[in-house]
Amino acid sequence: MKGIILAGGSATRLHPITKVVNKHLLPIYNKPMIYYPLASLMLAGIREVLIISSPDDLEDFKNLFGSGEDYGINISYKIQQRPNGIAESFIIAEDFIGESNVCLILGDNIFYGDNFNVILSKANKAMNEEGKALVFGYHVRDPERYGVIEFDENLNVKSIEEKPKNPKSSYAVVGLYFFPNDVIKIAKTLKPSNRGELEITDVNSNYLKENRLKVEILNKGFAWLDTGTHDSLLQASNFIQTIELRQNLMVGSIEQIAYEKGYITSDKLIQIASKMQNIAYGQNLIKIAQETLI
Ligand code: TTP
Repeated sequence: MKGIILAGGSATRLHPITKVVNKHLLPIYNKPMIYYPLASLMLAGIREVLIISSPDDLEDFKNLFGSGEDYGINISYKIQQRPNGIAESFIIAEDFIGESNVCLILGDNIFYGDNFNVILSKANKAMNEEGKALVFGYHVRDPERYGVIEFDENLNVKSIEEKPKNPKSSYAVVGLYFFPNDVIKIAKTLKPSNRGELEITDVNSNYLKENRLKVEILNKGFAWLDTGTHDSLLQASNFIQTIELRQNLMVGSIEQIAYEKGYITSDKLIQIASKMQNIAYGQNLIKIAQETLI
């Protein structure tokens, strides 16, 4: 399974902050936003990751993560010339995906909740075994802002629509998708929508037509955070700060996940952490490395 993080776009709703800075590099409390989706892919057990971003910004991501070696994973990079739509990522990533299945996560999506790693590995396994696409539904107050998914009590998908005026359910499709390899072929058949984008909802509709679309529900206690507006950006930071300080744990720390997954040694973790030993982030990592050594 390969993983893609889509980190381009125009982020107009965050202007003027994002006039010259890529949204996914903005801080969410104590880390760049893109740490969180990368952490999600790592929790799903994915070690081959492609970051797609705009021509002006890709270099910044390379400077941030390099080859991924520090985290025991492999990170490569590709340009999206213009924000032509989420589904374009599969065309851009064709060579990277090769013969594999693929998990796509949007670079501004943050997930936090109990058993997230279990949910992810279950999704990974189901998709590999059944050859179906898998999306996640999340109950929201304002479904008309999202792709909306309708399903019956046995989780059979009935419809999926992009930003409908009259939503058929209150479940939004979140920005985390598992697709079989033929998603590349499907993406290549798409035509731009009225807003000029290759729509991810059209990819999903194709799978639905073939009876190959599954949905899992992220329950109401689970947090799916939006970071696309000034208010939601600040709220996401406050949320992560509250959880980290209250529970004394780290959310979205790729260094910690790399260590706990066994991708890097305790020596490596301490080496990374020692560069940040004057701040809580580094001190927490050192503690994690030392605790598990005892
Ligand atoms: P959007 O929220 O649809 O768009 P945006 O981030 O450009 O913001 P705004 O609406 O404020 O102008 O994008 C969702 C995510 O997908 C976000 O992380 C950016 C990314 N994206 C791309 O990388 N390329 C694209 O072509 C699109 C449409 C989105």
